[in-house]
Order: sequence, then C-alpha cells, then structure tokens
Amino acid sequence: MEDYSDRTSLAATLRQRRQRLSKLIDFPVILWSGQWIPRNFAANPFPFRASSHFLYFAGLPLENAAIRLQGTSLELFMDEAAASSKLWHGETATREDIAKKIGADAVFNLCELQSHSDSAATVAVQNVATYWQQTKILNRPVAPANAPTGIDLDLAKAITSVRLCHDASALLELRKAAAVTIKAHQTGMRVTKSQGLAEQPLSEAVVRSAMESVIIAHNMSCAYGSIVTVHGEVLHNHQYQHPLQAGDLLLADVGAETEMGWAADITRTWPVSGKFSPTQRDLYDIVLAAHDACIEQVRPGVEYLDIHLLAATVIAQGLVDLGILRGKASDLVERDAHALFFPHGVGHLLGLDVHDLEDLGDLSGYQQGRVRSSRFGLSFLRLHRPLQTGMLVTIEPGFYQVRAILQEPKLRSKYQDVVNWERLNQFADVRGIRIEDDVLVTQTGNEVLTAALPTKATVIEHLVNSP
Ligand code: GLY
Repeated sequence: MEDYSDRTSLAATLRQRRQRLSKLIDFPVILWSGQWIPRNFAANPFPFRASSHFLYFAGLPLENAAIRLQGTSLELFMDEAAASSKLWHGETATREDIAKKIGADAVFNLCELQSHSDSAATVAVQNVATYWQQTKILNRPVAPANAPTGIDLDLAKAITSVRLCHDASALLELRKAAAVTIKAHQTGMRVTKSQGLAEQPLSEAVVRSAMESVIIAHNMSCAYGSIVTVHGEVLHNHQYQHPLQAGDLLLADVGAETEMGWAADITRTWPVSGKFSPTQRDLYDIVLAAHDACIEQVRPGVEYLDIHLLAATVIAQGLVDLGILRGKASDLVERDAHALFFPHGVGHLLGLDVHDLEDLGDLSGYQQGRVRSSRFGLSFLRLHRPLQTGMLVTIEPGFYQVRAILQEPKLRSKYQDVVNWERLNQFADVRGIRIEDDVLVTQTGNEVLTAALPTKATVIEHLVNSP
C-alpha cells in the first residue's frame, strides 16, 4: 500500500489514483456523478448519492457533475448553482473552489462536455436520467455497468484493478465508518433490554432508530438499508414492525457511510432477554467458531473461496456435533448440505459501496477466467479471488432456518439421509444468526477494523444487560 500520511491532501490522493489508472489505459474517461431523483416534483428528491466511481476519482459528492480523466489530468464539468438555488439551498462552494480542492486542471460548464467526449470510456450510472445523458453525450450506446462492452469493458477492468485494494486515504475513511458503526451496535444492544421487555415490548423499529440515530448524529448515513430483525432467517429483512419478545434473538446488520461515501458493514446477533438459551448458545458458538476460523485465515494469497469453504466446513462439523447433520463435514460440504443452513457466501468486498464494485457484476468479484458456480453451496459467493494486501472484505458466516429451503420437497428428499429433522426441531428458537466483521488484508495477515465490537456470547450478554 502507498504510504499516505493523515495530512495527504484530497488533491494529492486523487492525483495518485489517476496515476494508477493511467498506467492501465490510454484513452480518456468520463465519469458522471448522477442527479437528484425527484419523488413527485423536482424540489422533493430522494436522498442524493454520487456514483462510487465518480467519488473515487473526484473525491466529493458533487451533484450533476462529470469529470474527464486523461493520463493524469482532471477536468471538472459542472454548472454554477442557479441564482434561485441560493434561496432554497443557501450559498454553496464555487466551482473554482471545488476545482482547487480536488486538483482539477480546468473547469467547464456541463454543456461543454460533449465537445470533450471523443473516444471516451465510461461506466454506466444507475440512475436513468444520467444514463440517458451518458448515451447522448457519448453519442453511442452505453451498456449497463454489469455488462460493459468495448472500451467501457477495458475501463471497468482497469477501475477494478485500481479500486480492489485501498489506499491510506480510503482507509482513514473506512476506519471512521467502522468506529461509528461499532457505537451504533453498542447502542442497539443496550437499548434492547434497558428500554424493552416492559408491559409494552419494544419493536424492531425502536432499536433500528436508536442505532441509526448514532450514525446520523455523526453526520453519516446508512451504507445500506438496515436489517434489524427477530426474523434473521430473512437475509435482507427490511421490516421493523415485529415486537421484541423474551426468547427472541435480534439480528442487526447495520453500517455507516461517511460523507465521502466509504462504508462499514457489521452484523451482530443478541438475545432480547440478555441471555442466550442453551440451544441458541450452541448454534451461536458454531457460527462464532466459523467466523474466528475464517478471520484467522485472511492474509495475502489465500483464496477467498477457501475461506468460504472453511466456514462451511466448521458449520457442518458443528451441526454434526449437535446431531443436526449426519456424516463427515468434508463430505457434507461437497454435497452442499451446509447450504441448507448457511445458504449465502461468506462475505464480499467493502469500500465505497457495501458490496464494493458490484455494479460491475462478477467482473470485479471474480478473478478473470473464473465464473460463478451454479452449485447450491457456491452460487451466492460474491468474491472469488486470491486476497491481496489492501483489500477489505467482510467475514459473515451464519446459521438460518429458512422455511423456503427446509420445506422445499426436492431439497428435503436430496438431503433426507443427512438431516436429523427431529433433532433440528429442538432448535426452533433460532431463526437466524449472523456474525460479521470488516477485515483488512495486510502484508502480514489481517486487521479486523471492527474488532472493538465484541463477538463472544458472554460479552454480548453483558452488553445487552448494561444500562
Ligand atoms: N450487510 C448487507 C449486505 O451485505 O448485503
């Protein structure tokens, strides 16, 4: 990794990013930030989020702007705020101030972009209005980001290569997001019991609001839709109306995003009552054993697939030890039997997006020449590359009882011989457990950026019982 100091200016960081990109391509690049998307009228928009590729090379979340990169030069295209904007939005930085801050060599109005667009490559932006602007200004079809073609494909590969490993400026931001996310989870744990279990049980929404209020109080936003649920078996559950009952496990997957767009992603699972039941504790400890074993393996050169398979094996062995599965762990994993209870991949890249670079599809997550497997136990693996110094990945094994899987007739029949359904019934008080941390690959191994948030069951209980 480059040796940036804390005081490295934004302009210097961006110049170094352009230098790295310019070593991989020899054509100009135009990256758009995107626009406000109106809800029903222009002045009532959804929250704006600049495209991550723009953010990486422009450094600031500018709305309706574009940058043109050629070699190491940076040109900024954006309009001066309209006079009426001062009335509704107040004074904003001038384009010249912005250009200076990001080290732009020149500033133009947006309408001048077309005359600078010859032979330029781009990445398709997700919002439709900007996407049409891209095709119009480049005067050619622009394929969606997850299926780029021609020079856009070459650009997507080059950007992937530059963004896969984080520089020191990115890491400063990622650490800030991790620190605030840790506080949010600590707050969530404390609130669950100290304010709950009275005559009127708390709802998931109250814990969610307590956690998100920590993020908002730090002038950050949520990096993704928070998952705070007693139905942890619904992997991306965005409902918050359920009451928290004694005996429930609450799964919280909540992460902050800094103003510059850098994300954290943590999941913890805790008992609403402050004490895991014996069955919950058995399964929690299996997931934790998988989490710890996987983190132990994170270092340069290790295949992320092997880390996923390690999680699967530890979980399969744990379930054999509990009498839920029958057989040898390695055989069970080969048959994908672990995926009955751990159906997703062990994690993903983390950076400017919670699933970093996933707008480019498997181009980023999968090493060139590798394709996604259709196997039950591998099809949701989002990262299939050897780890490199500077990559930030999540490690997030889990155990879930998903009706749609466990009641599916074909799966039941396929795994009839290896599942002890009667024994499984004794674990009915566990719907979903996931434990997730953000792990930086370092030259000598790894650093868990979210390590300050405990994972051990007894320490989690203690935090939930804290006033
Ligand atoms: N933490 C949400 C996700 O990984 O999709």
